[in-house]
Amino acid sequence: MSLLLGQLEPLIASFFEQDVTGHDLEHAVRVKNLALYIAKREGGDQKIIEIAALVHDVFDWKFKTGSDNRVLNYLKDHLSDEELSHVLQIANSISFKGALTEVPRLTLEGMIVQDADRLDAIGAMGVARAFAYGGHKGQKMYDPAIEVQTHHNFSEYQKKQSTSINHFYEKLLRLKDLMNTETAKGIAERRHQFMQRFLTEFLLEWHQEEFV
Ligand code: ADP
Ligand code: NI
Repeated sequence: MSLLLGQLEPLIASFFEQDVTGHDLEHAVRVKNLALYIAKREGGDQKIIEIAALVHDVFDWKFKTGSDNRVLNYLKDHLSDEELSHVLQIANSISFKGALTEVPRLTLEGMIVQDADRLDAIGAMGVARAFAYGGHKGQKMYDPAIEVQTHHNFSEYQKKQSTSINHFYEKLLRLKDLMNTETAKGIAERRHQFMQRFLTEFLLEWHQEEFV
């Protein structure tokens, strides 16, 4: 591990220390590893990909606390101006702000980090993170009375009441078709099928259909 990354990871760990929403150092490291795996097949600047993957959630709208400054200062000290602006541009543009929100054009490095982040939101990891996030938010696992929402912009997406199961229909099942790279599409396929199996089983047990 390079010196640069060796010092960056503990900073990110302390940033996410209190987080139980599925954002933690482990998520950042999984995204980094997925992104580097994709990059081996698709190309791109490894240093930018590695760092952007590690910091991609640090500047997210959901946890603007000011504690992101230490990470930012660290990046300023260790990257050229051009590298810093590329990393920040990736971090700012990949977070999902609702299905219909226009997103800026991504560089190859940005596409790869976005794919890696989306892959970690689906499959078994996606299931676990959806319920961890829902529990933290105090939202129900499922409620047939709460309809799956469609949203028209970012502020609607932020406000609407949901359940963790609805989140699959509102976001997670869409991600497979939003992958940028062929490598990520391949990985997404299996993870998508697993989520579908999970949902079928969940709804079967919810409605207790296995007894009838
Ligand atoms: P990411 O790290 O992919 O940018 P987000 O910040 O959007 O993810 O969300 C963190 C995790 O919480 C993801 O796994 C996401 O699927 C999940 N999540 C986000 N919103 C909800 C929700 N309303 N209900 C359940 N899970 C959610
Ligand atoms: Ni993320």
